[in-house]
Amino acid sequence: MVLVRLLVLSLFHMSLGGSQPTQSSQQASSPPHPAGQQSPLGTSNLSFPWSRLRLPRYIIPLHYHLLLHPNLTSLSFTGSVQIQIDVQNNTNWVVLHSKGLQISKAAIVDQNFAHLSDQVLPVLHNPSHEQIGIFSPRVLSSGQKYFLYLEFGAELSEGFYGFYKSTYRTSTGETRTLASTHFEPTSARMAFPCFDEPNFKANFSVRIRRSPEYISLSNMPVVKTFEVNAGVLEDQFDASVKMSTYLVAFVICDFKYVTATTSSGVQVSIYASPEKWPQTRYALEVAVKMLDFYEEYFNIHYPLPKQDLIAIPDFESGAMENWGLTTYRETSLLFDPLTSSISDKLWVTMVIGHELAHQWFGNLVTMEWWNDIWLNEGFARYMEYISVEATYPDLKVEEYLLHTCFSAVGHDSLNSSRPISSPAENPTQIKQMFDTVSYDKGACVLHMLRHFLTDDVFQRGIVRYLRKYSYRNAHNQDLWDSLANTCSEEDFISGKHCYSSSQASKNAYLFAGEHMDLTAMMNTWILQKGIPLVTVTRKGPHLLLRQDRFLRTVLPSDRLWSTLQQGFLWHIPLTYKTDASSTIHRHLMTTPTDSIHIGEEVSWVKVNTDMTGYYVVHYEDGGWDEMTKLLRENHTALSYKDRTHLIHNAFQLVTAGHLLLDKGLDLIGYLQLETHTVPLLEGIGYLEAFYRMTEKRNELDVISNLGMYILRFFRAVIDRQTWSDRGSVSERRLRSEVLSLACHLKDPPCLEQARESFKDWLQSNGTLNLPTDVVDTVFSVGAQDDHGWVSLLHTYNMSLSEAQKSKILFALTCSRDTNKLHRLLELGLEGKVIRSQDLSSVILMVARNPRGHRLAWNFVKKNWDTLVQKFQLGSFCIRNILIGTTGQFSSPEELTEVQHFFESIKEQASQLRAAQVALDNVQKNVRWFQRNLESLRNWLNKQLQ
Ligand code: BES
Ligand code: ZN
Repeated sequence: MVLVRLLVLSLFHMSLGGSQPTQSSQQASSPPHPAGQQSPLGTSNLSFPWSRLRLPRYIIPLHYHLLLHPNLTSLSFTGSVQIQIDVQNNTNWVVLHSKGLQISKAAIVDQNFAHLSDQVLPVLHNPSHEQIGIFSPRVLSSGQKYFLYLEFGAELSEGFYGFYKSTYRTSTGETRTLASTHFEPTSARMAFPCFDEPNFKANFSVRIRRSPEYISLSNMPVVKTFEVNAGVLEDQFDASVKMSTYLVAFVICDFKYVTATTSSGVQVSIYASPEKWPQTRYALEVAVKMLDFYEEYFNIHYPLPKQDLIAIPDFESGAMENWGLTTYRETSLLFDPLTSSISDKLWVTMVIGHELAHQWFGNLVTMEWWNDIWLNEGFARYMEYISVEATYPDLKVEEYLLHTCFSAVGHDSLNSSRPISSPAENPTQIKQMFDTVSYDKGACVLHMLRHFLTDDVFQRGIVRYLRKYSYRNAHNQDLWDSLANTCSEEDFISGKHCYSSSQASKNAYLFAGEHMDLTAMMNTWILQKGIPLVTVTRKGPHLLLRQDRFLRTVLPSDRLWSTLQQGFLWHIPLTYKTDASSTIHRHLMTTPTDSIHIGEEVSWVKVNTDMTGYYVVHYEDGGWDEMTKLLRENHTALSYKDRTHLIHNAFQLVTAGHLLLDKGLDLIGYLQLETHTVPLLEGIGYLEAFYRMTEKRNELDVISNLGMYILRFFRAVIDRQTWSDRGSVSERRLRSEVLSLACHLKDPPCLEQARESFKDWLQSNGTLNLPTDVVDTVFSVGAQDDHGWVSLLHTYNMSLSEAQKSKILFALTCSRDTNKLHRLLELGLEGKVIRSQDLSSVILMVARNPRGHRLAWNFVKKNWDTLVQKFQLGSFCIRNILIGTTGQFSSPEELTEVQHFFESIKEQASQLRAAQVALDNVQKNVRWFQRNLESLRNWLNKQLQ
């Protein structure tokens, strides 16, 4: 017995450095041998035992002992894993995930560490499902536990998923290498064989071998380090709590850190490459505050002893919530007081708020399957607002929440949208679930729910949900039950998660005593795609209501309209305000038409107060004229959120063809009186969007008139701006946007000031720190001549601040010289001067430039295969590239061109939701111009007379 145990331990602990793994696969030629014989078992007459994408449920992993030894010189790694499994049905097979790994050895031992076979077990591969099957000649018996032992190896991945390589350059020009991981959603299988599905939660004990000049980090703290042999150290990490494979992480690097402790004793550290270490201070302060906040808000301790946050130089997305070791793009974690702007600060704060929220929403309680990833991402997005509001009130984060909802509306009002909860089986489908619908619609619907239930009930409900499903997985229904405090008998008897006073149902009385069925209500938001349009009409003392599905590409007069409307119905928690009182009125609308008594004496009604509801409102029969009048005469009778919401609503209705463009433009005529940043930017944003679209067409008169109109109309606002970093967050943000637009519209005073500042910057040899909120505008003006552009590229190459680099890169893409734009695209593709992680933003920024618009699209078409290879089909990047480069097309010819391209990549396009979204989007633009170009032209002529 002791001997067997030793054998297993030695198997697991043996040195991995020298052994070159060989692949055993279906092609292996040795014939099968019955159990008990000495020669290795073959695979030739075995066929892969499992045909489904999801793994069988009869083998449950309990504990992984994982050993990894990356070699940062040869850029490869070897490893071994011992997985304790619980067998729930008799079987000869263990099927699990593995992608791109060479498996060199497989063995299974029982609880007593006795080998089930003398031979190395055969391993079959099914690459199309990213699975391997290990055959055990002896049956694994139901109810028993075993250890599966595998040795493996692979190259470090070249992309951004799995166990991948990253590099950075020191100021002395030396290139250093590190290895990091990104597993979500389905890439843990690229680093070690595992049961790579979110509901196979297990404990992980990780060990990492490294050279002494590096450190290694993983989810848990190191408990022991010892020398394995000369020049090789092994870090042993503490065993983790039960968690999903996608949350496992490790990094081997030579970074430095700063550290502090939260009030409950959690050790928080921020890691960055040595020379960027001075930029880690702000993140440390934020992370400590946030952890303290979440522990209090969720009333659940953060369960690990430490939380490391690390800035990885090559990182495809924004950040990743690995439990205890969150990883970030450098711009998402580092804050440089000299070069980071107020928007950069806000971004860093929100990203940390997001990833730390996941430590509860996602890590502690995980969705059962990827179809409900919104339970992770929608919550984390929403918690960004709750946590930043509480910890950094000066950042005024609530001013941004409307935009989260607006981007959800933008997506959800196209027919290509999807329900929040949608089927996703293969990795490409799963990756695409990380989209605006899961994040922004998810957050916005939660916002609506929180208002419906009240803050207090919402908070208590989610705490109940988190407690009840800790270390487990949850479905939507579990959330609704927790929020409504619906008790199962078992819960009730145990007294653990249920309380007798049902606050939630009491709250339903706020909605005029209407019966509340939370599940029925929420199903209409989660299982049904789209967003409702509530049309309101005044009729005597009544407000008549009608709900339809809001679509921006189809008009009621179109043939398709009725088909697209069929079967859609929402339970809408309506709110409204009138001039007759200061109360917010509530009404739950569950039928296609409805009416509310509001009385005769009311002069105006504003529906969807502060946009706490996820629906668009149309005021029929002169209702919009009333709103325009109200804004002109007394705009502060409405909150800034209501004013912003009205502007957004109006232009959404214009795009959908329910409201004339003139009416929308008249509505924002009050903006000269507006002093609040949010509605001002909303109105300016629409005018800018029209300008940018017309700029890409040859409508010279409209371009010039619209530019002139904007500059004239907002003259006072522009003149109020200073070229500094002074003022409140809102003021700084307004300044940054307004000056950037003014210079883009070639406003002479703006250009003059920008040129002046750029000259100073050049004269200082790039050492002068310009005000951070306007520096991108200064740089983009400076980038217009050769010398300026080249100097900026030089500074880009040398700078140690990613915040500065991203501003320079933006400025470089503003050049009017197409050769320069082309060069940027090529540099992005090459991935040296401009990192591959920034290629998609370079493409998008070039596409935003009227001179680069076609260039970017042609570049995408030409390099499509390379782009897909770099970023993977379902990724954020590919989606952004497709939607971003086509987003400004607005002619039928361009629509046809996009269609042709998608036909040429049919096989891939058919798997991409983004292809349909891009087409819907162009279609919407085509219609917008067909319907509105003449109106815009005439309206401008009238204004400029
Ligand atoms: N869980 C995601 C990371 C992720 C992104 C995994 C895409 C798989 C696919 C993480 O929490 C996240 O949402 N990151 C965002 C940034 C965040 C602030 C919204 C991202 O990477 O863009
Ligand atoms: Zn997230």
